[in-house]
Amino acid sequence: MRLSADELSQFGEALGRGLTAPAVVGLSGELGTGKTTLVQAICRGLGAQALATSPTYALVHQYEARGVPVYHVDCYRLKSPDEARDVGFEDMMRERAIVLIEWPERAGAWAPALDRHIVLAHDPDPTVRVIEGA
Ligand SMILES: Nc1ncnc2c1ncn2[C@@H]1O[C@H](COP(=O)(O)OP(=O)(O)OP(=O)(O)O)[C@@H](O)[C@H]1O
Ligand SMILES: [Mg+2]
Repeated sequence: MRLSADELSQFGEALGRGLTAPAVVGLSGELGTGKTTLVQAICRGLGAQALATSPTYALVHQYEARGVPVYHVDCYRLKSPDEARDVGFEDMMRERAIVLIEWPERAGAWAPALDRHIVLAHDPDPTVRVIEGA
């Protein structure tokens, strides 16, 4: 799919409205392809309310939607997959949470199995993003 910024937001909101816990969604793609934009749209679709982010572990942002925990994990800054050991993926799975993971490949085997893996790419048109695996 080739989506404008508005269309990508609408796509994410619809995806979020349809997500039921537990669910793990991976978002991959080069810098600036819209992974965070898509996560934010998914959270809007879920009706997720942000909870305070722990200052010691800012790569995990926590939300809550209809009593369900929602985690946004950005693995971009992990220097090695083993740094993902402390992210708490096992606890998130135990809680039957909704988990949205940017750059899941950087967490290696520590990343939980993905129910969906969305891959974003740039397009020659800078206002468009290409989405696969949706
Ligand atoms: N069709 C589009 N869909 C999504 N974003 C778009 C589109 N066209 C332009 N943009 C712009 O691209 C940028 C995407 O940034 P975003 O932070 O969501 O990307 P990212 O993949 O999370 O990057 P990073 O890898 O740095 O975390 C935003 O500034 C957004 O306005
Ligand atoms: Mg991002």
